[in-house]
Amino acid sequence: VRHILVIGIGAGDPDYLTLQAVKALGRADVFLLIDKGEEKQDLAGLRRLILERHAPQPHRIVEVRDPERDRAAAPSAYPDAVDAWRRRRADLYERAIRDDLADGEVGAFLVWGDPALYDSTQAALEEVLGRGGVEFTQEVIPGIGAPSALAAKHRTGLNRIGRPVQITTGRRLAEGVPDGVDDLVVMLDAHQAFAGLDPEEDWEIRWGAYIGTEDELLVSGPVREVAGEIRRLRAEARERKGWIMDTYLLRRPLRPTE
Ligand SMILES: C[S@@+](CC[C@H](N)C(=O)[O-])C[C@H]1O[C@@H](n2cnc3c(N)ncnc32)[C@H](O)[C@@H]1O
Repeated sequence: VRHILVIGIGAGDPDYLTLQAVKALGRADVFLLIDKGEEKQDLAGLRRLILERHAPQPHRIVEVRDPERDRAAAPSAYPDAVDAWRRRRADLYERAIRDDLADGEVGAFLVWGDPALYDSTQAALEEVLGRGGVEFTQEVIPGIGAPSALAAKHRTGLNRIGRPVQITTGRRLAEGVPDGVDDLVVMLDAHQAFAGLDPEEDWEIRWGAYIGTEDELLVSGPVREVAGEIRRLRAEARERKGWIMDTYLLRRPLRPTE
């Protein structure tokens, strides 16, 4: 039977790789590398470095081109567009596992950060298994995701003592902060949704872009005071590099009754 390793490689710094991930890299016969378009250059760079340092020869590398998602689809067509994209993606994974991995071999997917956070590798593999066309066993190796890296860089925690924290996207934040949520981690935000927060609520932000890489940017302070600086830094960096990955923690004062 084929065996698949889903290996979290950390969110940017090659030293975020865990010892468990290094051991897993040593077991793979084939690396199935998903080519993801926009963050391609740096993602590819980190993978190359990790494979050079930690993947013993001989191994094979197979590049799988991730299908483009139709992000311009009208909101009403959005679920259909996502469905079609998921199917195409599962087709590619299925073909790669069936054709590029022999029975008894170990294949590895290298996933940015932690496979448990905003990553669809595991869902795609479940879909492939569900179709019944190719059989394999699986293992997941957790990685250091962007929220953990961000918290460490700002020398803070994600939650306050005994309190919850919500991990969400820029798109969701733009719809409003749910009642009872006072600590949020925001990922996948192309539109700086923090700028839409109620200024009366005294939100604090801890922001990081390209965390763990040589382009890392960090800013913290009251949203009211630092929002402009973050927007400026973000726009400059995006212009210079052509893409940006940023994550931030938002926190507001707890009401006295809580
Ligand atoms: C598709 S998600 C993948 C998350 C990844 N699985 C993880 O655990 O970090 C991509 C988002 O992760 C965040 N991200 C990933 N790496 C980052 C980094 N080095 N610095 C800042 N944000 C990062 C950004 O919010 C980005 O939009």
